[in-house]
Amino acid sequence: MAVPGMATGAGVGAAVACAAVVALLSAVLALYGPPLDAVLERAFSLNKARSIKDMKNTFQLVRNIIPPLTTKKHKGQDGRIGIVGGCQEYTGAPYFAAISALKVGILEASKARDVPVVIDADGLWLIAEQPALIQGYQKAVLTPNHAEFRRLSEAVLRDPMDSSDPHGAVLRLSQALGNVTVVRKGERDVISDGRQVLECSQEGSSRRCGGQGDLLSGSLGVLVHWALLAGPEKTDGFSPLLVAAFGACSLTRQCSHQAFQKHGRSTTTTDMVAEVGPAFARLFES
Ligand SMILES: *[C@@H]1O[C@H](CO)[C@@H](O)[C@H](O)[C@H]1NC(C)=O
Repeated sequence: MAVPGMATGAGVGAAVACAAVVALLSAVLALYGPPLDAVLERAFSLNKARSIKDMKNTFQLVRNIIPPLTTKKHKGQDGRIGIVGGCQEYTGAPYFAAISALKVGILEASKARDVPVVIDADGLWLIAEQPALIQGYQKAVLTPNHAEFRRLSEAVLRDPMDSSDPHGAVLRLSQALGNVTVVRKGERDVISDGRQVLECSQEGSSRRCGGQGDLLSGSLGVLVHWALLAGPEKTDGFSPLLVAAFGACSLTRQCSHQAFQKHGRSTTTTDMVAEVGPAFARLFES
């Protein structure tokens, strides 16, 4: 059965996200690389609060949701993904107004069909305007950056956000939206489903290139679908969406890290997309 996932994001990056998804799905031909322990060691050195064992356990949950490869499936059987994007160059109010109508119709359709949605960028602008659109929809994942997170919090929560407690802030936003999964992107990605909070602080790179968020949304679309297929028995009581989000954040950071090792300051999102296969193999198939 094919259950489509959907990612809404901005512009140019949509193509990049597509490429990322394609690369991710063909990560089969998995390559090789330093052992996962080396990756975990780096993560650990950056975040001593969490033990390597905890990190390993969370990675294991991500592995549990990845469907085995088989030659018996045909195209489309592992799901289809729809991407709704806009124009990155022109992000004024008239554009938002025009795209909103479109997005409300496509969000409503997804909800009616019980299809998972990943909402980023200008999709988040829409949610801040009309939180009711997503309220309580358990198959939605929002991926705000710092500014988008603040905007959403101001729209949805009465009291201003407490910048000294990022975990609490993400937890509260998720709860206020009816336990919709929220991934706050940043130096450390903070993820909550309104019940638990996970942090992904594995080393990425100090360079931020446009489109990195699209790689996250694209891989999240795939992982959310896999996680829902796998179900909570594979994720040890954690919500499947929470595990999917952790996996996508780790993958994006690992791609960024590997690309930066090779290309330094000149790293572009295309270089990151080229790392999807090896990064996936290193994190989840080693
Ligand atoms: C969200 O999760 C919290 C913590 O488990 C729970 O108390 C609350 O009732 C949930 N809200 C909804 C709308 O499910």
